[in-house]
Amino acid sequence: MASAFAPGKCILFGEHAVVYGHPAVAVAIDQGVRVSIEESPDWRLEGMPFDPSRHPHITHIIQSIFNYDGPPLALEVQSDLFSAAGMGSSAALSNAVGAALHNHLNSDEPLDNIKLARLAHSAEATAQKGRASPTDTATSALGGCVVVSGEHVEGTRHIFDTSLVTPEGKRDWSINVVDLPPGICEAWLVLGYTGEWSPTGRMVANVAKLMSEKPELSDDMEAIARITKAGLTALSAGNLEALGMAMDACHERLQRLEVSNPSLDRLVEAARPHALGAKLTGAGGGGCMVALAEDPQRVAEAIEVAGGKPLTSKLGAEGVRVV
Ligand code: MEV
Repeated sequence: MASAFAPGKCILFGEHAVVYGHPAVAVAIDQGVRVSIEESPDWRLEGMPFDPSRHPHITHIIQSIFNYDGPPLALEVQSDLFSAAGMGSSAALSNAVGAALHNHLNSDEPLDNIKLARLAHSAEATAQKGRASPTDTATSALGGCVVVSGEHVEGTRHIFDTSLVTPEGKRDWSINVVDLPPGICEAWLVLGYTGEWSPTGRMVANVAKLMSEKPELSDDMEAIARITKAGLTALSAGNLEALGMAMDACHERLQRLEVSNPSLDRLVEAARPHALGAKLTGAGGGGCMVALAEDPQRVAEAIEVAGGKPLTSKLGAEGVRVV
């Protein structure tokens, strides 16, 4: 049996803006998705007959990317991520399926994480009707701290470039990484799940519609880009207070793009008195918020009391790997 694990991600800055070529900063988290693959008399997913139309990411990787036409496979998936919740569960699933299938077919060849990031992005784009930045997939594939941008961002190390034709035109992204300073290990991320499910494709489409109705919102996109750069400088310097302030400022701009909602705002407000900063993370409309904390237990309790489900992680876990 071939198995692989891919981490989820937490976007610290730049969600939605990155779809329009602005920078985003994301870190891999400790939680993720594990996939095991073995040959089987018929196609199975978690012991049940596999219906390709219900699993577009898995189908795209197996059929369109690997062009797999071998014997039927049985896939087992174990995830400790909330799904459709801004934690990159579909990106982690694509990466873990790609890595496990690679291992099943060519077990002596090492994993190529950049190739995996590219193929998982193509699966994500197919599932999100052509509007998907490579942020989630690259962070899950590479691990650590990833900066995705339309142009080179100072202070980052370039890894690869990628592009996609979206309904709003062709987008080019540069994928870069940043080494996190040792001081960052004093900080924790506490994610708070609202319990509300929210598909990324729909949120991205809502923002596209809002932007076409209110062109003045491009000022908020520009502001998110400035906050992202300031947040990245704070992160690279290990300046936790400035990092938290930038997260607070980013949340206010995301509210103006109408991607926050009352549950996210409630959890953000509950976490803030005990945290260095807090914001929604990922597509919004439900899903998760994230707080930067030195005392993660206290923040987790505040989130729980406010009705959320907390999950604690260090910043910058290892990327996809065979296990
Ligand atoms: C989703 O995790 C992040 C978004 O920016 C969409 C994307 O980057 O594809 C909302």
